[in-house]
Amino acid sequence: MSLAILIMAAGKGTRLKSNRAKVLHEIGGAPLLMHVIRAASAVVPASAIHVIVGHQAAQVEAAVAASGVGFVQQTEQLGTGHAVQCAAEAIKTSDQVLILSGDVPLIRPETIRALFDFHQAEKAAMTILTARPADPTGYGRIFRRDGSNEVQAIIEQKDLKPGQNSAEINSGIYAFSTAKLLSALPHLNTNNAQKELYLTSVAGLLFAAGEKVVALEAADADEILGANTIAELASLDQSLRARTAKRLMDSGVTIQRPDTCVIDPEVEIAADAIIEPYVQLLGKTKIGTGTRIRSYTVIENCTLGENVLVRQNCILAESSIGDGAKLGPFAHIRPESEIGADAHIGNFVEIKKSKIHKGAKANHLTYIGDAEVGEATNIGAGTITCNYDGVNKHKTKIGKNAFIGSNSTLIAPLSIGDGAYVGAASCIPKDVPADALAVGRAKPLIKEGWASARRAKNAKK
Ligand code: UD1
Ligand code: CA
Repeated sequence: MSLAILIMAAGKGTRLKSNRAKVLHEIGGAPLLMHVIRAASAVVPASAIHVIVGHQAAQVEAAVAASGVGFVQQTEQLGTGHAVQCAAEAIKTSDQVLILSGDVPLIRPETIRALFDFHQAEKAAMTILTARPADPTGYGRIFRRDGSNEVQAIIEQKDLKPGQNSAEINSGIYAFSTAKLLSALPHLNTNNAQKELYLTSVAGLLFAAGEKVVALEAADADEILGANTIAELASLDQSLRARTAKRLMDSGVTIQRPDTCVIDPEVEIAADAIIEPYVQLLGKTKIGTGTRIRSYTVIENCTLGENVLVRQNCILAESSIGDGAKLGPFAHIRPESEIGADAHIGNFVEIKKSKIHKGAKANHLTYIGDAEVGEATNIGAGTITCNYDGVNKHKTKIGKNAFIGSNSTLIAPLSIGDGAYVGAASCIPKDVPADALAVGRAKPLIKEGWASARRAKNAKK
């Protein structure tokens, strides 16, 4: 028995009133379609997944190409039935096919598998995943043969006749015997309110042909909610984030106000980490045990060790932070930085593409770019690495146990040896050997009594 999965993603999403294809709109930090592909990939290998693309096909393909799925073109979007007609070649060698909608993103692999197992057990021609949501508006409705799990027809909301109704809706997710599906597809027509070829009409066609069409009601109606409007997208985003927060809390992570945090689904957090309100943890961020992330911090694709403290309002991207390090408030760690264990990066300090070794400190108002700062070195307030000459970027290397006085200007390329000492307010254009003192600043001019004389003169005017 062979199984393929088709994902319908060619529609424009007219109801979003957006220029971007619907399946490229994001929830939980990834396009809608990517969520569906992730769920499908947990059921069959990517080589057995075919995505039907049409509207903005090139952008849609580019956004999900890394997943390794195949693509089928539907150049004109004449309806969901037409979409599947376009994919007939791709699925004809598979005995069974699961069809998912690119705009129903919360579907879980467990539910897809349960649908397929039920379909197999029932030996059905078509099995429809259904639900009874609180508000069925907009969905196709399921009409069962009384008291059975057999379905006579799916009728789109716009085609319901007066008095015709059903609380059970079509999720847009189905399992088919491929041969039965292919036998019905040529008989679709556009005699309906939207003048489209509906995939949903296949249910009535197969039923009329004496085939077995059954429904399986999903345990959780929220899982099959579709996104047709921006407001629905926002509510799906919220459900997905609530699901992620719940999973993390169940594994021992404290999230103080989960409703205020934005945590992407692939974020990993160890037990006993604490996430304060209004924190964003994005991409593939990993956080170790005992680490505390204070409010208003945004962390994207970073790895944080154990017992790290990130104080309020920090921005961290594409970097790693060692055990016991303390950052912020208001620290900015830019891509490709490595902050060593127990290092301190304080307020208004920007670090770019730099390696800060164990126990080093830069606590106030500093820019460190393209640099390496040795173990236990102290960088005084207001120190600036001048890494850019307007054309090229240059490196600064500072050894261990060094002391850089406040307001130093370090002109790269530059090397400052282990244990060296730079006097406050120095401008350093050339290398400083280990254990040396470097001071480069103007001598102060001091005129005794000058200020009081000036005040006396002004008072006479
Ligand atoms: C569809 C179902 C409806 C169901 C609902 C569940 C039909 C006719 N109706 O309605 O019964 O309750 O999903 O969410 O199928 N697409 C294509 N090519 C097309 C048209 C659509 O690939 O020509 C894709 C869309 O990109 C989308 C999916 O198919 O991912 C569903 O299309 P959409 O227009 O959103 O259908 P609904 O009106 O939501
Ligand atoms: Ca839809």
